[in-house]
Amino acid sequence: ASSRASKSSGKGARKGRSSSNGRGPLLTTADGAPVGDQENALSAGPRGPLLMQDVNLIEQIQRFNRERMPERVVHAKGTGAYGTFKVTNDIRRYTKASIFSKKGKKTECVVRFSTVAGERGAADAERDPRGFAMKFYTDEGNWDLVCNNTPVFFVRDPYKFQMFIHSQKRHPETNLRDANMQWDFWSLCPESLHQVTWLFGDRGIPRTYRHMNGYSSHTYSMINDEGERVWVKFHFKTMQGIECLTNAEAADLIAHDRESHQRDMIEAINKGDFPRWKAYIQVMTQDEANEFRWNPFDLTKVWPHGDFPLIEVGELELNRNPKNYHHEVEQSAFNPSAFVPGIGPSPDKMLQARLLSYQDAHLYRVGVNYRDLSVNKPRCPVHNYLRDGQFGGMHDEGTGFPNYYPNSIKGAPRPNPDYNEPPWHLGDVTVDRWDSRVDHDDFTQAGDLFRLMDRDEKVRLAVNIVESMGGCRKDIIKRQLELFDKADENYGRLVRKALESYRRGDMDDLHESVQPHA
Ligand code: HEM
Repeated sequence: ASSRASKSSGKGARKGRSSSNGRGPLLTTADGAPVGDQENALSAGPRGPLLMQDVNLIEQIQRFNRERMPERVVHAKGTGAYGTFKVTNDIRRYTKASIFSKKGKKTECVVRFSTVAGERGAADAERDPRGFAMKFYTDEGNWDLVCNNTPVFFVRDPYKFQMFIHSQKRHPETNLRDANMQWDFWSLCPESLHQVTWLFGDRGIPRTYRHMNGYSSHTYSMINDEGERVWVKFHFKTMQGIECLTNAEAADLIAHDRESHQRDMIEAINKGDFPRWKAYIQVMTQDEANEFRWNPFDLTKVWPHGDFPLIEVGELELNRNPKNYHHEVEQSAFNPSAFVPGIGPSPDKMLQARLLSYQDAHLYRVGVNYRDLSVNKPRCPVHNYLRDGQFGGMHDEGTGFPNYYPNSIKGAPRPNPDYNEPPWHLGDVTVDRWDSRVDHDDFTQAGDLFRLMDRDEKVRLAVNIVESMGGCRKDIIKRQLELFDKADENYGRLVRKALESYRRGDMDDLHESVQPHA
């Protein structure tokens, strides 16, 4: 009377790993083993109970429970697309960045647009700033330019960023967005008024992500081949034209399409109507910065275009939709500290805080090896001494031996001082990579400690050293002996004597044979 779902008895299973109808691939477990039934749980009799040994069902339950990763703490709702950045103007007098090395040069990139305050399921057409994050896969490393659609920001000190975001997100008791919190914060922070005026003005709700501009807002630095530094702001102007929604239009749109921006981007790219932006920079010299009427690194203010005109640099085109939203958009990780030679930070306090914040967010949200995912992976060789962590080893680059520096291993990655940023003079002090070994005596105190020891202590020290070091490569031992010599010539002599005993293999009577003051 029972109806067994599976027809096959398990005997004589089909050969060749094909599916039962031969039309699609064979269904397998995550370990690659063929699956016979994906609809009926293994049970003791037709009415159950179920068996622990139906491991595929167990894995399905577990994997489903783990499908979500933490959403971005801000900018959680987003849309991503790949594209190309093309240089249209020679700006090599400002930067040696390889992305700008030649007029006409094209660099692949990925861009993620977002709203700020809403969660991952929020409606797109809300009144909110829009994120405009770009990752350029340059031949000298990934350069991330993480912009907004407004040229300024609400606050100028990083202490206020997290507090500002709290005021914009949900009330901790009611879990409601709360106008009192928002306006309480804004009314206590007059520096927010400039961006508040943007936000509640006509441009406060872009019609789509294609119909808005992108701005670095922050000042960054550019460094040329001569090591000269200028300050720059980036602007990306939409070639689709600015189009926005009123509150009423947005409410109407959201009522029938909560994903209007996402849908618009996917459809435009799918039908070949590739969105484009013209890229510009504004440039300020250090002398101009010194004499400027306000702090030019204040993120709440623009640089007047009359004083610092826009200089065209290139064109951005988005032309490819991701194939897997989770892998390529949700797990994409943009990082204002991803600089390349020729482009760097400025003293803007907010930017300085962002240099830490995003990297930290990625380590938590995506994981320590987030750059191994194809969307985040540099498209140039990577060699470094960062190692391990969860999901390490998805790619070979940056792995293996040696895993420490300095080392004397042939072929190991080494830095090149040509890539050092030039010194940065801040009045009385200069920011630079000061040599931590200059003016430091590494030997006197080590020698004093040796000299303080009595005969037996010295011998024990030498024995311990050779028992550890005796089997090392000759060049390493030679280098280390020279250090002992510099601390005290008797120190070097004693270790050499101990080494001789070690090599002769008569360590047993080492104590007798080694004379500390021989
Ligand atoms: C996302 C922090 C200011 C644009 C984020 C995230 C954090 C963060 C933690 C989430 C990152 C992730 O989980 O992937 C901060 C801090 C700021 C600051 C601490 C100031 C002190 C700004 C400013 C802009 C900006 C001034 C624009 C000029 C963005 C964008 C994203 C983002 C576009 C989304 C990136 C993406 O698409 O993955 N921010 N932010 N943020 N932020 Fe900021």
